[in-house]
Amino acid sequence: MFAILFLLKPFSIKAQTSSNTALPKKFSLNKGWKFHLGDVEFPVVRGHYMSYANAKAGTAWGAAAPDYDDHNWRTLTLPHDWASEQPFDSTANLSQGYRNRGFGWYRRQFKLDSTDRGKYLELQFEGIATYATIWVNGLLVHRNWCGYTSSYIDITPFAKYGDQVNTIAIRVDANAQEGWWYEGAGIYRNTWLIKRESVHIITDGVYANPVKTGATTWTIPGEITIENSGNDTRQVDLEMSLYTPDLKLLTTGHSSIDIKPLCKKASNITLNYSDPRLWSVSIPTLYYVKTIIKIDSQIVDSLITKCGFRTIKFDADSGFYLNNQRLKLQGVCNHQDHAGVGVAVPDSIVAFRLRKLKEMGVNAYRCAHNPPSVQFLNLCDEMGIMVMDENRNFNSSPEYVRQLQWMVRRDRNHPSVILWSVFNEEPMQGSEIGYQMVRRMSHTVKELDTTRPVTAAMNGGLFDPVNVSQAVDVVGFNYQSYAYDRFHKENPTTALTSSEDVSGFMTRGAFTTNKAKHILDSYDTQYAMWGTSQRKGWKLIAERPFIAGNFIWSGFDYHGEPSPFGWPSASSFFGLMDLCGFPKMAYYLHQAQWIKDKPVLHLIPHWNWPADSIGKKIKVMVLSNVESVKLYLNGQLLGEQKVDPYEMNTWMIPYQPGTLKAVGFAKNKQIATDLVATTGDAVSVRISTDRLFINGDGLDALPITVEALDTKGRHVPNASDHIKFTLTGPARIIGLGNGDPNSHEPEKGDQRSLFNGLAQVIIQSNEVNKDTQVTLHAIAKGLKPFVLKIPVKAGRPLLYAPVISSTLLIDKWLMSPMTDQKPDPDQVIAENDMNSWQPTSTGKLTTLTAQYVIFRSSLSKPLANVEKAHLLLKKAAGKAKVYIDGHLAYQKIDQEPADISIEIEQAQLVKQISVLFEGKAGDRIGIMGTVELK
Ligand code: GAL
Repeated sequence: MFAILFLLKPFSIKAQTSSNTALPKKFSLNKGWKFHLGDVEFPVVRGHYMSYANAKAGTAWGAAAPDYDDHNWRTLTLPHDWASEQPFDSTANLSQGYRNRGFGWYRRQFKLDSTDRGKYLELQFEGIATYATIWVNGLLVHRNWCGYTSSYIDITPFAKYGDQVNTIAIRVDANAQEGWWYEGAGIYRNTWLIKRESVHIITDGVYANPVKTGATTWTIPGEITIENSGNDTRQVDLEMSLYTPDLKLLTTGHSSIDIKPLCKKASNITLNYSDPRLWSVSIPTLYYVKTIIKIDSQIVDSLITKCGFRTIKFDADSGFYLNNQRLKLQGVCNHQDHAGVGVAVPDSIVAFRLRKLKEMGVNAYRCAHNPPSVQFLNLCDEMGIMVMDENRNFNSSPEYVRQLQWMVRRDRNHPSVILWSVFNEEPMQGSEIGYQMVRRMSHTVKELDTTRPVTAAMNGGLFDPVNVSQAVDVVGFNYQSYAYDRFHKENPTTALTSSEDVSGFMTRGAFTTNKAKHILDSYDTQYAMWGTSQRKGWKLIAERPFIAGNFIWSGFDYHGEPSPFGWPSASSFFGLMDLCGFPKMAYYLHQAQWIKDKPVLHLIPHWNWPADSIGKKIKVMVLSNVESVKLYLNGQLLGEQKVDPYEMNTWMIPYQPGTLKAVGFAKNKQIATDLVATTGDAVSVRISTDRLFINGDGLDALPITVEALDTKGRHVPNASDHIKFTLTGPARIIGLGNGDPNSHEPEKGDQRSLFNGLAQVIIQSNEVNKDTQVTLHAIAKGLKPFVLKIPVKAGRPLLYAPVISSTLLIDKWLMSPMTDQKPDPDQVIAENDMNSWQPTSTGKLTTLTAQYVIFRSSLSKPLANVEKAHLLLKKAAGKAKVYIDGHLAYQKIDQEPADISIEIEQAQLVKQISVLFEGKAGDRIGIMGTVELK
């Protein structure tokens, strides 16, 4: 018997955000973005001067340039997914949910205090779908090649301070696809501006992962990576301390290093500790590691990292162990999108989804097929959900190794992460090339973390002479349940898990299959030809101790991949829950199979059948974990069955309206009941929340359930009323859904139809600093409306980088030859002129060698159709005339430096600004400040 022992480690949470240095270090950049849907063409580069400038740093053109006029663009707050705002389009890609994606542009400006000079400054983009090109102050600073990895951009050298404006411009290419599912489009995760002292802990720079060393002893082999963006070598003292969950100091370690300028260096501190409280799925205890770095006894940076003490082990014979206790992985695979919001899912909706899974008995989550957001992992740590963290791109070449390294460095402190998955279903899995690539990728992971096994989700190639299963620690099986026994027999020392199985189809709330209408019943009869029924899938796993567990495809429905159908179906049928998180029958089925500590009993179908069904047999199922179940119709006992924990229990009952009731027994005691009753027609609307209040922090989002009731206040399961919402108070509707994969109703707006009795509206709070409330009215034709008042608690908003009014920074200047002859200020520069005009900049003075010189700037995009604009040339020195498109707009007669301020009224177009300076040889002229057009 061969066992691989993986000892558990901690994780970094708000961790990477906190500090005890006096000044805040992390500012959200989410507010105040300008957005343009569609591409913005770059001007054609022609002529010597443009070609020359085009090849130089800081001279981006078009919408990438600081002097681009974006005042007509839409203003929005991130995260943003423009695909979810698009109508469904039969000509768009089915895999991406029939949503057009295309290109989009985002721009945002910000200022830095002059006291920030000397600090290390970083921009962070946690996720942009899909490819992005990023400019800062006209300098191309980054291209991302994965829509699921974060970008950290050091802007220290070219940042501007004080009055000067910094401009971020991002071109997003969402025609690029990395998946065969809905990927959304745009900047769909958080963005940050980070300010640190010049000597600082780098992003993801603390590794603090507890490892068990003896029966009761543990060690944290801490590693801290610091960087010095300053000018001098510094001696740095480092300190790492472990704290209990209630913040009592347990132990501290120290080290000290010298760090040269512009270098990064790692230092190690080991912390030992005995008898910690363990992290587990039932009690996910988290400890804190505080890292401090000091120069001359002054703290210059600090970070709090959360960690968990736990061991993991995958055994080839007996499966998975958490803290030496055997535990079957009861897992689900999921994509990251949700109804109404696409991939721009607020953290509280992520938490809602995880709560639903946890209530179902899920203990493991596979991030299919890409790294999740950091907030997702924080929640899994806190809620006790184990994670298979998955890399997106299978590729062992440098850029892709970098993506994998990023994932492991960011996520290796999270106790929830138990497996690194390097790929999903790659055609090369049964080949020498696939093997060699996985070998390298596994090595990359192990250089950063040896405490968790590497896996790969294989759907073939298992028995090829050279295949990927030989290069991983735990072999992941996608769907090949027929091969579990053979593979185990032939590879008795290899640990196995299902990485993906089932792929069942179900329409929530539907009990009759109608393929013409794209409706699939909820009796677990429908599944993909490569999958199994829900019941068979679990039985195959549950009966094989050597398989660690399963990951069902999928926990939730998702946009796109509407298999087994196409248009008009636009989202998937695979979920145990629908796109809104409303449970399907399969949810209750697995809940009955997985929950052990309390009775579960759920009865299907609904009992609202049409009159012509009376007397016809209806299939009834009870999903339960009790010992036996009795079924009654209108008080009459129809029979008793012993519960079959895999197949569950089925009756064929001649339909009579009334009440169907199931009663569950254990040890002859009644311990659970469920009933379905024939309701009357819908007469009123009801809306309800799964939480009692919303936080007024501008971020908290609340999913609200909408349904219709009959005269007795009973949920009407087949209602399809169209509901309109009006929200008053400090919140807004951010999305709507109803879980119907065939619906083409917009996911944005203020209305939605019920689908099989249910719909969901998601509201998000605005920032409020005192307790208040919002009111949601739900109105439907012919139904009594419903008014829900939701308390809003005063919130603590994030720290935001202030939004400034959009400014065109005119920063590309040419200087004419100096002449004693008065030149034509609007003269055209010949395309082949290579030498006479020189690139110049503002912010400095020039000495005249003759009487005249022209400074000229041509805007990246002519300012068009503005009612009013204001041109400001800060601290212009020398006598000057300012011409806008050949017209004299201002005359400055003094030599002394002064601001030139020009109001432009109702301009059709502003294309070119020329400043004609006049003086005598030896005079100092120029624009000492910036030139801005507002
Ligand atoms: C798998 C694949 C998943 C999903 C699923 C649907 O092969 O890994 O991403 O497409 O099929 O059954």
